Amino acid sequence: MKKKIIVYERLEKPVLESLQNKYDVKFLKNIDAKTNEEFLEHLKDAEGIIGLALEVNKALLDNAPNLKIVSNVSVGYNNLDIEELSKRNIMATNTPDVLTDTVADTVFGILLAAARRIPELDHLVKSKQWIEALGPEYYGVDVHHKTIGIIGMGRIGQAIAKRAKFGFDMNVLYHSRTRKHDAEEKFDATYCSLEKLLAESDFPVLITPLTAETTGLIGKKEFQLMKHSAIFINASRGKTVVEKDLIEALQTGEIAAAGLDVFEQEPVEPNNPLLDMKNVVTLPHVGSSTYETELKMSELAARNLEAGLNGDKPPTLINP
Ligand code: DGY
Repeated sequence: MKKKIIVYERLEKPVLESLQNKYDVKFLKNIDAKTNEEFLEHLKDAEGIIGLALEVNKALLDNAPNLKIVSNVSVGYNNLDIEELSKRNIMATNTPDVLTDTVADTVFGILLAAARRIPELDHLVKSKQWIEALGPEYYGVDVHHKTIGIIGMGRIGQAIAKRAKFGFDMNVLYHSRTRKHDAEEKFDATYCSLEKLLAESDFPVLITPLTAETTGLIGKKEFQLMKHSAIFINASRGKTVVEKDLIEALQTGEIAAAGLDVFEQEPVEPNNPLLDMKNVVTLPHVGSSTYETELKMSELAARNLEAGLNGDKPPTLINP
């Protein structure tokens, strides 16, 4: 008999098809996992779950007596209760490394877009309002030779530092749980306190994982420390920022602009004031979403899942 697995939300087609050939697959999308009867029915027999952003907590696990592995198709795993999974000897995996450069590219994409006001000017041209040479009211600010402040110097933070140093000749400051001597040497990066980083950066960039310590890490006090000219970038998780404080900081001119790939509530609510601000560049949480990288993430997640189902150690296991 084929093993039962649940595919939740997103998995690239060739990977999904390959799993469907080997396992009894239930593919579920756009459901409320807490109440969806089809999901709960399949959970009883499922040995594996693979997918994106499914909230895996005690309540869910109480309904999953046969589960061996939860394979996240993302590097962030704030949706998984790792302690609860470990208690039950259920493996949890994520997809690091394969998305590092893509997310770093996205960060530079929104950083450049916000600094050079690309979406705003694109709109101006396409809405046929470019009728004369534009003056200083449409100028952007330089990125090259400025100071970037990277909060969270993991793999992605370091890929951002590399682009900043060698692509844009920037001065690189960083703050992280631990010192990264290697990165300091390679990218001429300077470790400093969060306060100093916020005060001195032209581009404070938040790229930490969402944990109990980083929830609400950047709020009113932190925005007040930033330069009035600061362009704040968040490509971590929405909840690392107190969003109402970010909105206030932008409304009052405490900071100049923001580039956001993530929001407190996703998909973002239509009445969120951030959506009406010209100085805010938004993306719908697509930091890693290129054809190439999504496929690599799906493939790695599937390798993790299959290893777990076979009782082997998955390549990128989170809980030892
Ligand atoms: C990740 O992999 O964590 C990205 O944010 C996509 O969810």
